[in-house]
Amino acid sequence: MKISIIGSGAMGSLFGGKLAQAGEKVILYDVYKEHVNAVNREGLSIEDAGTGDITVVHPEASAEPESVAESDVLIIFVKSTTTEEVAAQFKAFARPHTIVLTLQNGLGNDEILRRHFGSERTAVGVTSQGATFLGPGKIRHAGKGPTHISMADGREEKLAALAEALSRAGFETHISAEVTSLVWSKLIINIGINALTALLNVKNGRLLEFEDVKAIMADLVNEALAVASRKNIRLIYDDPLATVYDVAMKTASNTSSMLQDFQRNRQTEIDFINGAIVKEAKKLGMPVPVNETITRLVRTLDTLHSQKGDQQ
Ligand code: PAF
Repeated sequence: MKISIIGSGAMGSLFGGKLAQAGEKVILYDVYKEHVNAVNREGLSIEDAGTGDITVVHPEASAEPESVAESDVLIIFVKSTTTEEVAAQFKAFARPHTIVLTLQNGLGNDEILRRHFGSERTAVGVTSQGATFLGPGKIRHAGKGPTHISMADGREEKLAALAEALSRAGFETHISAEVTSLVWSKLIINIGINALTALLNVKNGRLLEFEDVKAIMADLVNEALAVASRKNIRLIYDDPLATVYDVAMKTASNTSSMLQDFQRNRQTEIDFINGAIVKEAKKLGMPVPVNETITRLVRTLDTLHSQKGDQQ
């Protein structure tokens, strides 16, 4: 199978690297040329956070969009802020049988893909894998957990070969019909963790050391739960807040994706995470003041970071 990763940051490189190691033909597409060149020159180095072991794998990397032509699968791992642009750009390279899978954080990416590729080619998934970008050609595999994927048109058989390839690459993968539940269940975890780690400049585990922070996590999660419940969305876990605390503990040494964005002066996915709850709540006439305040703070810092980026 030819599998192209669109957006080969930490998570994209992790999936692409492991799939290449398992024998798939992989293209890691990214606009970040230093990373692309480093991978092609020296391979992709994957450090296992648990054991400290380093494995070097050799997927092909490219900054040329044409390199993904003739792919059987496109896995979208760009920041949610650029999904729209990327979907429009890569539409020309998707064949009638190409599966376009989003494994991004946040709410709304599958809707964008469906609009561009149709439900018959769109798949959506959530993953509990975690990765940190260490520098060009280097990532850390920071957390392991299941990956669930679902076909937007419900035709699960189309995902069989991909699920098998992912499993062979070491990712525990399940094909599921419960996509809304899965996306919201992951969303609520990101709502409780990501913005606070970014605002406080701490790794995930440190959030749990402060009662005040745990109380804000509870407010963020409870507001989101109220919205989910009004929309009749069932979550995949029984105790959402306990699950959020548990994920923060299990990924204690992770630098969350939002904090990684802050550190690299990149725009965050706040509008697809806490901001998405604010948007959904507005439609329902529900107040979500804590999510609204946190969204405003992160958005302001995004602007300040981009101004700093422009000056550099
Ligand atoms: O976005 C992230 O960083 C991850 O989804 C999570 C679960 C918060 C772990 O770092």
